[in-house]
Amino acid sequence: MTARLIPEVLVVDPLDRELEQLLGECGMRATRGSAAELTALAHPSAKQPHVVIVDTRGARAIPASMAAVKRQHPATGVLVVAAESDPSVLLEAMRAGATEFVHEPITSTALEQSISRLLAHRASPAAAGEIFAFVGAKGGVGTTTTAVNVATALAKVAPSQTLFADLHVAHGDAALLFGAEPRFSIVDALENTHRFDEAFFRGLITTTKAGAAFLASSDRAFVQHVGPQPFRAVVEFAAQLYRYVILDVPRSDAAVLDALDAASRIVVVTNQELAAVRGASRLASALRERYGRDRVLVIVGRADKQAEISQGDIEKVVASKLKHMLPSDYRLALQALNNGRPLALDNHNKLAAGFRSLAKELAKIDPEPKHNEASGGLFSRLTGRG
Ligand SMILES: Nc1ncnc2c1ncn2[C@@H]1O[C@H](COP(=O)(O)OP(=O)(O)OP(=O)(O)O)[C@@H](O)[C@H]1O
Ligand SMILES: [Mg+2]
Repeated sequence: MTARLIPEVLVVDPLDRELEQLLGECGMRATRGSAAELTALAHPSAKQPHVVIVDTRGARAIPASMAAVKRQHPATGVLVVAAESDPSVLLEAMRAGATEFVHEPITSTALEQSISRLLAHRASPAAAGEIFAFVGAKGGVGTTTTAVNVATALAKVAPSQTLFADLHVAHGDAALLFGAEPRFSIVDALENTHRFDEAFFRGLITTTKAGAAFLASSDRAFVQHVGPQPFRAVVEFAAQLYRYVILDVPRSDAAVLDALDAASRIVVVTNQELAAVRGASRLASALRERYGRDRVLVIVGRADKQAEISQGDIEKVVASKLKHMLPSDYRLALQALNNGRPLALDNHNKLAAGFRSLAKELAKIDPEPKHNEASGGLFSRLTGRG
């Protein structure tokens, strides 16, 4: 028999003793803490409670240190308690890393259910694969094209172990780029996360000529609101089955943007237009705040050497170096789209080389082949020089 886990819950700045009493009633060990104690929890070596509850009743703001704790210790569950279901508090809670939210009247059942979900999430087996998310700073900057080609390049390295998931619930473009005609979609996945097992999940996948497995967007307009949790479930389950999971993230869907906890890298794609560069700066700083600086990478898609806004200008605005400037090649991009054949499958053009170089950086594949490396190794497969 396995011992039952007694959840340790830190209640930060509670309005009264009610929360501790309710938690005690459902067999949890609750400790009361101050905002200063929460700050101490952000230390990398600080021992973590299973769950932190932040009480915002009495018009208290969520302490700024909450987001720092979550960044440093992503496994710590965060629950926000509020007087009412107020969207601005909900948004503030999400920014601070909370994934559960309970408002008055607060019952022991509501608390218990929320905490069980936090613990279940924490107990889920660690994702084995690496997740790379792509999000555009603005429409049309080349995000889907880049993501599809990075997936294609990685599928050469890890055939049948690379999955591309289009997280646009409706009318995503990746199917066109892959030349695929999927029968099932992300909506089937989101609606059935409770049924996930390997056979069910693989049943939703389409195989592409480019080699990547593909979870497509839906063709039907999808109206129902989906929160971050089902997206997290899809992404994390995918990473248990595939070595590389590439995500096409809709930039205007807050739920998806909030579901990227398991992503190894989040790539913000911009181009050299003023609106895109400003968008990239805002988006990159919000994502750095939420997921940590090291995980966010800004790249330029459709780069043009003659453009008025230079690489240096963008680097200043987005506060990081740009290692990847994917050259603009309208003819090749259009041809690939019309043929439903990602251009990373072909060699000898700068754009394909740019996609492969980005794939190598994300997957941390050594760009320098050893002198006596036998052909057929990872590098040669990625460069096509096998
Ligand atoms: N490097 C490139 N050079 C030239 N054209 C490109 C390049 N990358 C993408 N394109 C073209 O730009 C257009 C938009 O590309 P894509 O759909 O990848 O952008 P997106 O950022 O995903 O757009 P959306 O906001 O609609 O999702 C397409 O016509 C595509 O062929
Ligand atoms: Mg797109």
